[in-house]
Amino acid sequence: MQQAELIERIKELKLKRNAVILAHYYARPEVQDIADFVGDSLGLSQEAVRQTADIIVFCGVHFMGESAAILCPDKTVLLPEIDATCPMADMVDIEGLRREKEKHPNALVVCYVNSSAAIKAESYICCTSANAVEVVNSLDVDEIIFVPDKNLAAYVEARTDKKIIPWEGHCPTHHQILREDVLRMKEKHPEAKFIAHPECRPEVLELADHIASTRGMIMYAKNSPAKEFIIGTECGLLHGIHKAAPEKKYYCISEFTCCPSMKMINLEKVLISLEKIQHIVTVPYDVRIRAKKALDRMLAVKI
Ligand code: 13P
Ligand code: SF4
Repeated sequence: MQQAELIERIKELKLKRNAVILAHYYARPEVQDIADFVGDSLGLSQEAVRQTADIIVFCGVHFMGESAAILCPDKTVLLPEIDATCPMADMVDIEGLRREKEKHPNALVVCYVNSSAAIKAESYICCTSANAVEVVNSLDVDEIIFVPDKNLAAYVEARTDKKIIPWEGHCPTHHQILREDVLRMKEKHPEAKFIAHPECRPEVLELADHIASTRGMIMYAKNSPAKEFIIGTECGLLHGIHKAAPEKKYYCISEFTCCPSMKMINLEKVLISLEKIQHIVTVPYDVRIRAKKALDRMLAVKI
């Protein structure tokens, strides 16, 4: 089927099924273009809650679909590709987290939304890259177990008085960005601002002119007087940032910064997902109730 026909079919089925398509900024450009809402992890969770549609087609990775399913139990949440999982989310396990909680009985667990529903259920509160510092500072304890991203943990630690106990997880896509990549690009584009995602290594973030979530990076580029930007995150952001401020120039930090999981969903899979109502994201009731508490606490934090 040609792309135009695929898009037409998706639009028809969306109406017929009373469905809405939510996509992350790292999704394929053509998938972002058919979405009703494109956002970062925080924006997508907030948008899921606002939705009145019966079906949410989530064009992102599994934990994002799970968050929507936890927050909107009355809706059917579809993930067009069941294997679209986040490797970082798989780096933390329940038993290990429970052991960590036993070792630090006075600490609260803050879990990055890039985690399974079961880990969220084991945590006090969730955070995203857009609100991690505010979430940590909102808590009335001095010690925080922060899972699973050690880089986001280090970013938060530098911006809080609380003791952060990090977990050994990382995002393979962001962790492979090295200081030398940044220095090389800065030399090539001396006028460009370097904007980076907090999932990058601390020594990379040290070189950044601005650190923010994906949406935060787009807003910064749009509102900054600068005309050129080196993008320190997954390459999918280039599409959204170009759309937001097309008159400016953007350089991806390296050709390797691609998240394979985020690219698994294409238009064909979105169409099949709407046709067959697949793959429905489900979360067991007891896990959902506990995980929802952690997500609701996060959504209540003002940023
Ligand atoms: P944000 O959506 O919070 O910017 O995080 C990026 C990410 O890695 C999602 O998987
Ligand atoms: Fe996970 Fe990193 Fe891909 Fe985001 S970019 S889904 S954190 S692997």
